[in-house]
Amino acid sequence: MAKDVIIACDFPSASETFAFLDRFTEEKPFVKIGMELYYAEGPQIVRALKARGHKIFLDLKLHDIPNTVKKAMRVLAGLDADIVNLHAAGTRAMMEAALEGLTRPDGSRPLLIAVTQLTSTDQQSMEQELLIGRPLDEVVLAYAQNAAAAGLDGVVCSPLEAGKVHAVCGANFLTVTPGVRFAEGEKGDQKRVTTPALARELGSDYIVVGRPITQAADPVAAYRRCVKEFIG
Ligand code: C5P
Repeated sequence: MAKDVIIACDFPSASETFAFLDRFTEEKPFVKIGMELYYAEGPQIVRALKARGHKIFLDLKLHDIPNTVKKAMRVLAGLDADIVNLHAAGTRAMMEAALEGLTRPDGSRPLLIAVTQLTSTDQQSMEQELLIGRPLDEVVLAYAQNAAAAGLDGVVCSPLEAGKVHAVCGANFLTVTPGVRFAEGEKGDQKRVTTPALARELGSDYIVVGRPITQAADPVAAYRRCVKEFIG
């Protein structure tokens, strides 16, 4: 199973993203493109980063009726991202349609992973606004099982949930985990955080790391430290 560190490139423009990535002269990090950068620059940002040799996690979190998601995924498959995602809340029918849309005529496709419950949703808002009365961790695991049953490759989750997800969905079901900080680092707005070394111990397959690398005085050194702690 490939383990890797994915840098969350949460920059507002292509030029800032390129300036950041130009600092990496010896390696080509796996990068995550989120909504801000994608909506600012369009599909060209994916093509440009691919052309520069990066693997790409395109974090657009699709959620719509199955037919719409299927057709959108067909477009994303053509961009040649390595990982794309959607909301498991869209139901199994939507996830299955997404997989269909993502699969190219030659049978190849990007990895498809699901967001279960956003980490910004807590027990109270889930109960009072979404009217879901079960414990949050049960809901996360049930959504992960739905994603696995639909044929998806994994979920985005906390490293603290990676073990349980693997236990329920299988060792090969990917756990892609944000919420990573160096032991002495700032937590920022992340609440439940782990170090890269602990994420490795807990069984994360990919860690997604943003500010600890992008805001570091020496981003290349911070990236290398993450890789060393997480992969060895
Ligand atoms: O800067 P930081 O390391 O907190 O960045 C984490 C990245 O992972 C951000 O792009 C954030 O949007 C994303 N993410 C997250 N928690 C989730 C899903 C995505 O932090 N549950």
